[in-house]
Amino acid sequence: MKKIVVEGLKYKYPMSEELALQDISFEVEEGEFIGIIGENSSGKSTLCQALVGLVPHFYKGAYGGKVLVNGLEVRAHSIADISLKVGMVFQNPFTQVTGSKMTVYEEISFGLENIGLPREEMRQRIDEVLKLMKIEHVKDHSPFDLSGGQMQRMAIASIIAMKPDILVLDEPTSQLDPAGSEEVFHSIQDLSQQGITVVMAEHKMEKVAQYCSRVLLLHDGKLVDFDTPEKIFSRDDLKDYGVTAPVYTKVCKSLGIKKLGSDVYPVTLEDAELALRGAMK
Ligand SMILES: Nc1ncnc2c1ncn2[C@@H]1O[C@H](COP(=O)(O)OP(=O)(O)O)[C@@H](O)[C@H]1O
Ligand SMILES: [Mg+2]
Repeated sequence: MKKIVVEGLKYKYPMSEELALQDISFEVEEGEFIGIIGENSSGKSTLCQALVGLVPHFYKGAYGGKVLVNGLEVRAHSIADISLKVGMVFQNPFTQVTGSKMTVYEEISFGLENIGLPREEMRQRIDEVLKLMKIEHVKDHSPFDLSGGQMQRMAIASIIAMKPDILVLDEPTSQLDPAGSEEVFHSIQDLSQQGITVVMAEHKMEKVAQYCSRVLLLHDGKLVDFDTPEKIFSRDDLKDYGVTAPVYTKVCKSLGIKKLGSDVYPVTLEDAELALRGAMK
């Protein structure tokens, strides 16, 4: 089933001269894990916001084309309707915190209370996401006493507690150290393997290569390419788009060593190792 359909999407922020998104079309199947990459200002965050309806309902502006998520046309439905099925984690976790809750536990319960979930189920879900995001030990702390990384985990926890069908994440590990990022990517991969469709804007290319099934490359608000990580990172013109391939890909490219049995370059450490061993035989 197609979970996301975008057709000829165009968008311009109010007061802005230029289109932030120009004629974007793509489709995402259920359970895919999609990465959105591109240099600063290429439109990654705007595209994320268009998937959850903040564009155009909150930001307004000039809008053309169509976005369907879970079969709902975003423009024709309220953000409240869309948010029942599509969860978004923002780049800056501070913008996501309600600001009115005394503890992390209460902060996570906020969305669940709003949808009127029974107490017992609410407790179960909160315990589950606290564990998944490794923030059980701070559940009674104030959200404002958390480190950036813990706050980012809390923001993700409150969204996944809502059990969305589609999860949109805008650079969700920007506040985390490498070990923390790795854990969060793992948790997101678990969710994706449970059938949740994931779309994530990200600039850590090694992570995109490791976790994403397909990658959408944006430049100046236009979709340049939408393909497997291998195909995207094997392109010769990446630097024209301000993007660098994972370090493993760069090494193999410079040595002219392709992924075993294919015409693309390796993008992960494992595949690079296999290709290099193969080449040494
Ligand atoms: N709230 C806003 N109002 C006006 N222009 C914006 C706003 N947010 C982003 N833009 C512009 O839209 C374009 C795309 O930005 P953005 O989606 O934030 O890119 P990215 O996330 O890839 O850095 C940029 O030219 C940016 O300046
Ligand atoms: Mg952004």
